[in-house]
Amino acid sequence: MGDARARRSAPFAVPFRTLELPRPFGPFLLEAKLGHGGMAEVFRARVYGASGFEKVVVVKTLKAELLGEPEPERMFLEEARLQALLSHRNLVQAHDAGVAEGRPWVRLDFVDGVDLSRLALPLPAEVARFVAAELALGLHALHEASDATGRPLGIVHRDVSPKNVLLSKWGEVRLADFGIARATQLQEQTRGGVRKGTWAYMSPEQVAGRALTSASDQFALATLTVELLTGARPFDAATPLETMDRIKEARPPALDAVEAGLREVLLRAFSAEPSARFPSSRALREALCACGPVADELALAELVRSSLAAGQERGSTASTRIDTEAPG
Ligand SMILES: Nc1ncnc2c1ncn2[C@@H]1O[C@H](COP(=O)(O)OP(=O)(O)O)[C@@H](O)[C@H]1O
Ligand SMILES: [Mg+2]
Repeated sequence: MGDARARRSAPFAVPFRTLELPRPFGPFLLEAKLGHGGMAEVFRARVYGASGFEKVVVVKTLKAELLGEPEPERMFLEEARLQALLSHRNLVQAHDAGVAEGRPWVRLDFVDGVDLSRLALPLPAEVARFVAAELALGLHALHEASDATGRPLGIVHRDVSPKNVLLSKWGEVRLADFGIARATQLQEQTRGGVRKGTWAYMSPEQVAGRALTSASDQFALATLTVELLTGARPFDAATPLETMDRIKEARPPALDAVEAGLREVLLRAFSAEPSARFPSSRALREALCACGPVADELALAELVRSSLAAGQERGSTASTRIDTEAPG
């Protein structure tokens, strides 16, 4: 087994990011690195077909360091399998998966724009409500997803955080990165997962290592919404450990800067007891939309385009802007 592993991983001891792009890879031409996290490297790529057909796609591959490890490989392909079942305007869908040069890959829609971590905060309140409402709709579809036989999958995303929220230059909002999303039935088997959620957006039950339900994603969405509205995360402390302590205490954050109606909605989503939150992400969306005017795609598109333009001024482009070691 040691031999087999060495054989498979040897050509990839060097991650793609240090190799020259563009570079052919399976059916793709990898063009630019979009990001990397705990498990994966993500590329903008091109596929070609008959009569000059070509299309820009995203190729996510398992990190070189994890090749040959059975558990990460299984998790990576499990992510692809779940993501293929999700066809919704607010979710990034997987279209196919395969292995090239011994390395598993999954093909995703390319979202031409920025991730939420690139927008200048706070956002205008209407736009923040729009982004939050769209994410709640995506989470609703995710939580309600079922397999081909109609059996509910019970998926929980578990990592609703800015780098996993993609915004297109047309103002679409899409939740990405199902790397630690799990069908609840599988949770026990995957406990020792390769990485956990982004701590600042964790729910009390996630910090405590308890079982997660769809209500945990509501908690993360509420944290994200406060950040969009105020520019600050409600539980942030000096260190990650202190932040997690504050989340675990589950004392409701002071939301003085948030108007009263919306504050009530967010505080309900911040309930320590998951069952005291909204009965579904759909109900959370309805409550968010009832708080006041909600912007539309065109308003968000303008912000995305100005963020892209600002990025270009700094000499980067949308496709090469992210290169951080932080999970996300
Ligand atoms: N479908 C996509 N379209 C455009 N950019 C993407 C897409 N998927 C991922 N990215 C970019 O790549 C980064 C990392 O992707 P992600 O799926 O979150 O991988 P990881 O599991 O390594 O965090 C994202 O934060 C985003 O900026
Ligand atoms: Mg991510």
